[in-house]
Amino acid sequence: MKKVFVNGYGSIGSRITSFLKDDPEIIVVGVGKYSPDEKVEDAISKGLDVYVPASKIPSFSNYKIAGSIESVLDSCDLVIDAAPGGSGYKNKINLYEPKNIPAIYQGGETVVGNEAVSDLLFNSRVNYDQALGKRHVMQGSCNVTGMGRILEPLRVKFGDRLIRFDVTLVRRWADIEQTEKKVVDTIEMSEKPHHGDDVKMYFGKEAPLYVRAIKVPTRQMHLHIMDIRFKDVAPKPSEIHELFTNEFGVATIWTAKGTKDIRDYAEKMGFNFTDTNMIHIHANMTTSIDDTVQMMYSDDQTGIVIPENHMLLQAMLFEKSYEDAFAHTESIFHMKEKKEKLQEYFAKK
Ligand SMILES: NC(=O)c1ccc[n+]([C@@H]2O[C@H](COP(=O)([O-])OP(=O)(O)OC[C@H]3O[C@@H](n4cnc5c(N)ncnc54)[C@H](OP(=O)(O)O)[C@@H]3O)[C@@H](O)[C@H]2O)c1
Repeated sequence: MKKVFVNGYGSIGSRITSFLKDDPEIIVVGVGKYSPDEKVEDAISKGLDVYVPASKIPSFSNYKIAGSIESVLDSCDLVIDAAPGGSGYKNKINLYEPKNIPAIYQGGETVVGNEAVSDLLFNSRVNYDQALGKRHVMQGSCNVTGMGRILEPLRVKFGDRLIRFDVTLVRRWADIEQTEKKVVDTIEMSEKPHHGDDVKMYFGKEAPLYVRAIKVPTRQMHLHIMDIRFKDVAPKPSEIHELFTNEFGVATIWTAKGTKDIRDYAEKMGFNFTDTNMIHIHANMTTSIDDTVQMMYSDDQTGIVIPENHMLLQAMLFEKSYEDAFAHTESIFHMKEKKEKLQEYFAKK
């Protein structure tokens, strides 16, 4: 049994913790909190030990905390950092490296420049083996992970017939449970979005990938609008869909009118955190015109990176083969079953 500490208990940290508690190979030694609020009680009520920065212990006097983050790090084998973007790098420098503890970082960090947390941006479909035994690795963000789920199977199947990918990311404003974040009535343009460069970290620096991003007032998933240009006549939509029949974490659906339909179904089916943990190709929107395939897929922002963190953990801590890690992740997340249910419910009428 390996001991894991989850530093940060927000949208991502709370989900990772919940799934890790179902993993018989892992002991969750505790979670890190930074603000004395109701989520401390929430974690304790779930049987978790809560640790806080040593300097903040006095402000948690109303809660039964287990100790300081600095001390718990001495008794764990790996940290999953789930801090707000940028804090992961500071944690690496101030905590994890001095204590010689391996760590997984989330998509709000970077793998380039002075504040890089790693030289590897993980995507289990593309570079699982590169993470074997590595000590500091960044998990791609939700949008970066989602794009990889589409791009890699296309590259494997069509190779140099592909000449260009243009993607518009329509990003959600806030997560469902981030009730303190107001959803503002505007469409915000993102200057120089990081997502394309992040994808190129695993898809190849020279990849002909062009990404634009806007943020819209919804809490219900991201939507990616992707145009794929071919050297010659583009494949038919049915050929594109067929490619994803057996892909992990990709459901192909026909009748969802919008992203909320999918979230509502996930809630109805009792999926944990109302997550599907995958992307959903809106097959009714796929077209093939001359040399171009146009497609849209929605991306479960909070859920998609959780099984990826689990795959990464197994590469770093246990050095498992891809097949073994995949089978173990599947036994905890039941992705195949969720995919089948989604495809059946939103099947072509
Ligand atoms: N939300 C998504 O859909 C999503 C998807 C993919 C990737 N990500 C990435 O995942 C990371 C976490 O995002 P999130 O959405 O989970 O954020 P979040 O909901 O705001 O949660 C952040 C958590 O980090 C804690 N925290 C504050 N300062 C910290 C520090 N210095 N070190 C460690 N933890 C600290 C916060 O504690 P207190 O609440 O106690 O202050 C809070 O529990 C970011 O890199 C983000 O880009 C997010």
